[in-house]
Amino acid sequence: MTSRHRDLLAHPPHRPLVAASILSADFSRLGEECHSVLAAGADLLHVDIMDGHFVPNLSMGPAVCAAVRRACPETFLDVHLMVTDPLAFLDPFAKAGADHLTFHVEAVEDPAAAISRIASAGLSTGLAFNPDTPVERVLPWIAEVDLVLVMSIHPGFSGQAFMPEVLEKMAEIAPRLRPEQRLEVDGGVNPTTAAACREAGVDVLVSASSIFGSEDYRGQIEAIRGAGTTASTPQGA
Ligand code: DX5
Ligand code: ZN
Repeated sequence: MTSRHRDLLAHPPHRPLVAASILSADFSRLGEECHSVLAAGADLLHVDIMDGHFVPNLSMGPAVCAAVRRACPETFLDVHLMVTDPLAFLDPFAKAGADHLTFHVEAVEDPAAAISRIASAGLSTGLAFNPDTPVERVLPWIAEVDLVLVMSIHPGFSGQAFMPEVLEKMAEIAPRLRPEQRLEVDGGVNPTTAAACREAGVDVLVSASSIFGSEDYRGQIEAIRGAGTTASTPQGA
């Protein structure tokens, strides 16, 4: 377990973490954008990897992750693999400085083996599932991972509308997690939908367009985190 991992888990469960997804950053100024959202209070960076096969889009690869690591040496990098063969990318992303890998349950035949491989590489583990996938697909494995990711859009693109029907999946998973485990939501998260997700037990809120499309990163991050929760010390900025 890396020190960044320990730092992330050290936050008490009642304090939601905001993960800025760099998918909506200005890629021509990526390092600067990462520094800006971290200085504005984002707790970690979410790195969306798409292979054009598992999802109908391409995004970025290990070289971009490595560039973000160089720009932000101390920041927790949460890599979300939306790819057909996630284990093929374990070593490249571990070498690129990822702290955490989330893979999709729909993409693997043996989730337990995938979790074990990622953990053995020293990264924290995440299990994601799509809006069309029943919660029963992930329940057998949730005790084994550090984080469960509930997709609240069909993955592939930022800027889509939140799907409220996934809230009941969050409410089903949240009480089954141990205090040191995290429940993450990804897709269509803005200050309004974030409130509903927090109410359902989510404590890691991923946002791309709502943060990077805002004129006020700090205000937007604080609104997503929710009233009454304290902003963290910026990391890696
Ligand atoms: C989409 C990605 C998300 C995306 C979210 O498939 O997994 O992380 O960046 O974008 P917004 O927050 O704009 O819905
Ligand atoms: Zn994502």
